[in-house]
Amino acid sequence: MNQRPRRNRRTSALRNMVRETHLTVDNLIYPLFLVDGKKIKEEVKSLPGNYRWSLDLLLKEMEECMELGLRSFILFPAVKESLKDKKATYSYSSKNFYLKAATAIKKRFPECCLISDVAMDPYSSDGHDGLVKKGIIVNDPTLPILGKMAVAQAGAGFDLIGPSDMMDGRIGYIRQALDKAGFTDTGIMSYCAKYASAFYGPFRDALDSAPKAGDKKTYQMDPANKREALIEATLDISEGADFLMVKPAIHYLDVIHLLRENTELPIAAYQVSGECAMLIAAAQKGWLDFDQAMPEALLSIRRAGADVILTYFAKKWAEKYA
Ligand code: PBG
Repeated sequence: MNQRPRRNRRTSALRNMVRETHLTVDNLIYPLFLVDGKKIKEEVKSLPGNYRWSLDLLLKEMEECMELGLRSFILFPAVKESLKDKKATYSYSSKNFYLKAATAIKKRFPECCLISDVAMDPYSSDGHDGLVKKGIIVNDPTLPILGKMAVAQAGAGFDLIGPSDMMDGRIGYIRQALDKAGFTDTGIMSYCAKYASAFYGPFRDALDSAPKAGDKKTYQMDPANKREALIEATLDISEGADFLMVKPAIHYLDVIHLLRENTELPIAAYQVSGECAMLIAAAQKGWLDFDQAMPEALLSIRRAGADVILTYFAKKWAEKYA
């Protein structure tokens, strides 16, 4: 035998030398759930180890993360039912605790990268990402609401705006709205290929944001489709996106790879709540070794071609490996 691939696997030094894919804290974005109030740290039951934080405790959590070298965070609001309405008006209200928190966070940690969520669902009494009229999630009338939300978030200090709603034309609409308001330097991380997935369950528990009626299949992508991701990517690029996201990640590694091979923008992949919950649950049952399975899962997302990974394991990974 001339070729013996095992030679390069013989020692740890050799393996490290020929390793093709690397993961560092710079590749990780940590999703955090924010709730109004003080001294609140409520565990999300379906996502053990993750919490709904009030701002005071969230700042402490972020400080611990920053000490580990983790600097990028995506923030989601858990909004009281009484503040929700059909048009998600609280989402851009000057009283919104989420917007105020963003300003406080950026004041405390100017060096962090803070990413927002643009979609109506956390604020909508219908629990949908767009405006609901006669049972239909209407596209174009949703855009001005998303535009106002994005401008309010940019004004609050978010570094990147994260439209997760999957309405057509929203990247272009938001880009124009931001520019018109003077936020030409605020970037957009577009949820480009976001699938109508069953793996968002724990997230919807965390925010109490599940649709009141129907599902999200008329706007989020069909899990069976891959070429369609290229259509979405082409549109988002032409409309001015700065990052393209694939979501979920683990079950859509082929889509991450496809976008990596066919586009030039940085690619983000979201290891969503259900994908993380599966691993946590198996580990709790003693069926998997969490400390080995978790980094392997993250590495697979990087290997598929993602530059950055949004994952509920960001802090755990940093604690062990940073
Ligand atoms: C809402 C939104 C969702 C997630 C991120 N933004 C849920 C949904 O579309 O229903 C899911 C994230 C996760 O499951 O971790 N626009």
